[in-house]
Amino acid sequence: MSPFELTRTLPEDATGAALRADVLQGLTRTPKTLPPKWFYDSRGSELFEEITRLPEYYPTRAEREILLARGSEIAARTRARTLVELGSGSSDKTRHLLDELTALQLYVPVDVSGSALTGAARSLLAERPGLRVHALIADFTAGLALPATPGPRLVAFLGGTIGNLLPAERAVFLASVRALLAPGDALLLGTDLVKDESVLVRAYDDAAGVTAAFNKNVLSVIDRELGADFDPRDFGHVALWDAENEWIEMRLRARRALTVKIPELDLVVHFQAGEEVRTEVSAKFRQDGVRTELSAAGMELTRWWTDEAGRFALSLATAV
Ligand code: SAH
Ligand code: TRP
Repeated sequence: MSPFELTRTLPEDATGAALRADVLQGLTRTPKTLPPKWFYDSRGSELFEEITRLPEYYPTRAEREILLARGSEIAARTRARTLVELGSGSSDKTRHLLDELTALQLYVPVDVSGSALTGAARSLLAERPGLRVHALIADFTAGLALPATPGPRLVAFLGGTIGNLLPAERAVFLASVRALLAPGDALLLGTDLVKDESVLVRAYDDAAGVTAAFNKNVLSVIDRELGADFDPRDFGHVALWDAENEWIEMRLRARRALTVKIPELDLVVHFQAGEEVRTEVSAKFRQDGVRTELSAAGMELTRWWTDEAGRFALSLATAV
């Protein structure tokens, strides 16, 4: 049997249909919004990898520190035979888990980005001849169905990506994760933590402008996929801290009054000078909030680890 399988759980055109629906809905409402999963075409996935190496973007390094310190404890507690990873991207930090999970038989990375999945699998399999990888191209917000895999199962959701969902979406998402867990299975969840505003804003508005390019990439995706005529240079990148909701909000701000045509949607969109489109939130958490959200979804927080500086947390949870 080949050590690598790739399954697309979305029909070829599902992405296109969902993109059309999201763009139509988001750009015809006030205020305008665009949902974040469309950042990650192959260019977007590359730009995100560049973000993880920026001096200002601490979450990746902080989470890696925790995985290195706690990997063996995670392995001892879970004895996982299958590792499922949602939003796996390059699977780079996952190596630290794979290094420790001695009972592991199968790694199931799940991502909307096919290019990220194949790239990650290629390098993991080159390094680890014994590993079996079953990659899934799927939307983790659209009802997850997993192949039957050996238990116990560890479901990892790293990078603080859960913060990119709004609170109501998180509740639905966590309930769907809970449904994947049998007795003895566990969830490993990475969450960025509330901290000083200036540190947070810099992490999402770096000096080199990589995050700005990443944010604007969503416009290039719409141009390519829907024939639109957005010029990314007409928009500025905005990252601001919403203290009430405790999230960073990313926006694109029109530098002047604009009209954009989106032929595939039969749509013309007007922007006033200074008008902003919300493209992404990145919620920051506290332990109490994580415990409460897990519990509302039928899970119990059993371990909470942070990096030395207390910037980022990894939670281990089980089904109740
Ligand atoms: N886990 C990696 C990557 C985080 S970036 C890390 O910690 O560095 C977020 C990843 O989630 C990207 O690879 C993106 O393609 C994927 N993603 C975003 N929304 C998704 C969705 N709705 N369904 C599946 N994957 C998604
Ligand atoms: N999950 C990442 C985070 O919230 C994604 C991310 C990092 C991101 N920088 C971004 C998304 C800038 C949009 C724009 O930290």
